[in-house]
Amino acid sequence: MSDANRPHRPRAELRSARWYLADDMRAFAHRQRTQQMGFRREDFMGRPVVAVVNTWSELSPCHFHLRDRAEAVKRGVWQAGGFPVELPALSLGEVLVKPTTMMYRNMLAMEVEELLRSLPVDGAVLLGGCDKTTPGLIMGALSMDLPAIFVPAGPMSNAHWRGQKVGAGTHTRKYWDELRAGKITKEDWVELESRITRTAGTCNTMGTASTMTAIAEAMGLTLPGASSIPASDAGHPRMAQEAGERIVGMIFEDLKPSAIVTRDALENGLATLMALGGSTNAVVHLVAMAGRAGLKLDLDAFDAHGRRTPVLANVFPAGGNLMEDFHFAGGLPALLGRLKDRLRLDCRTVNGRTLGANIAGAKVWDDEVIRPLDRPVSAGAPIAVLRGNLAPDGAVIKASAADPKLARHRGKAVVFRNHADMSARIDDPALDVDAGSVLVLQDAGPVGGPGMPEWGALPIPKKLLAQGVRDMVRVSDGRMSGTHYGTCVLHVAPESRIGGPLALVRDGDTIELDVAARRLHLDVPDGELARRRAEWKAPPRRFARSYGVLLERHIGQANEGADFDFLAHGPSVPEPEIY
Ligand code: FES
Repeated sequence: MSDANRPHRPRAELRSARWYLADDMRAFAHRQRTQQMGFRREDFMGRPVVAVVNTWSELSPCHFHLRDRAEAVKRGVWQAGGFPVELPALSLGEVLVKPTTMMYRNMLAMEVEELLRSLPVDGAVLLGGCDKTTPGLIMGALSMDLPAIFVPAGPMSNAHWRGQKVGAGTHTRKYWDELRAGKITKEDWVELESRITRTAGTCNTMGTASTMTAIAEAMGLTLPGASSIPASDAGHPRMAQEAGERIVGMIFEDLKPSAIVTRDALENGLATLMALGGSTNAVVHLVAMAGRAGLKLDLDAFDAHGRRTPVLANVFPAGGNLMEDFHFAGGLPALLGRLKDRLRLDCRTVNGRTLGANIAGAKVWDDEVIRPLDRPVSAGAPIAVLRGNLAPDGAVIKASAADPKLARHRGKAVVFRNHADMSARIDDPALDVDAGSVLVLQDAGPVGGPGMPEWGALPIPKKLLAQGVRDMVRVSDGRMSGTHYGTCVLHVAPESRIGGPLALVRDGDTIELDVAARRLHLDVPDGELARRRAEWKAPPRRFARSYGVLLERHIGQANEGADFDFLAHGPSVPEPEIY
């Protein structure tokens, strides 16, 4: 047994001992039922019970390999003297879940928390990685606060098409526009369909998945270097096995997420987000994760990091490489090594060492993929926070993935009442729109979407694509896929569905965007806005039953992390009575 795995807590004080070690009828039933599954008494009595929380499913291609990885984790748990139990959890495959996985992130978080609370487990290994699964798993683990380690699913392997690197999401959007502009054929498009995602694993661009798993690593919740190991690399099951071994040590040390996700760790997460040129979705998730840890993170903290941290990861969509390239360039430890003067290096991590110790000696092997600080991928803020009369509680823009020529812009609004309205009219040749217009999408927020779908990168109208237009200013209360790009103002808060100023915008109004001044302004006199507000009527509630009722009544706004109000950090929930 290594030092890290040396027991500190007596076995009789393990949480699972309440189920298994008592001398009464219920404990008899717990032991009896565990033996019913073919385990021997000595397999679980007095051993730490490890939940292997698995978000595998056959409609979650990014997690298609996680059944195998759960076996690797279990191997590690057994070898370290624990008892692993695999628990399936809600699988949020980003592309196939409708209307949006974000609608269910909080449901996954609730499920994880209640699984860990209700069952005889002492700690957890969390398997996931497709966009919302990382924050969902971590939020649940933070709320329950048992020792936990995150095993990222890992990115899919590089893909190529006709001699070009192609990345999931980024090139889907690019070639969709090229198809609509008549630059590629339908046959090309069908051929691309089978080439762009060629192995299991999460999107191979710096989308939300790669951003969030890297942030989890920077915050100390994964083993060092884990987040970028390609899903199909033999190193991935080795990492999973090591995580299984390590969780047993964490249980004996009682090393909980609350000791890892501190204010300083969050600051490291924010710096990492910026240096990755990461997804704007991480803004919402980090605020929600902080909330579960009892920490308040406001949007100004993101803007402050954006002003001082340049993009170093030259990965799509902000750069020109894929996650496999990033991994072989040194992965996250190498990038963090470049940032080390801006990090809080004494934060604890799951392996029991500090972040500083974990990244000491990490090397960059390819300066083109992980750029030095004096030669960043893009100058200026990767993500900027905007405010103004159109977004009193804030909005965000991924400046590193936007056309710099549009960073300061005044244009006439073309307003879509909701996604259906946008789909019906965006390509209408009669739509009154030109390259200088500002496309506005209402009703895409946390309540409105519902669940704040990734509709914020509104498509460029077909007639403008034909003229060569590839970017426009777009404004919405929705989100944008981390794999996408464009001058898209997102997460406008408060959202239009609850009467935020976005609901008051009309066709032809002038909107001003000034990224340098962090300003988003609706140039309409206050009196006129007051008149429109008096006329505005709240739409009726959409859901009368099921999960949608919870969402509609309890979800917070984007700047609050879109978490449910009743899941916020507070007094601890009583342990279940064992009878
Ligand atoms: Fe799963 Fe992109 S669709 S990570």
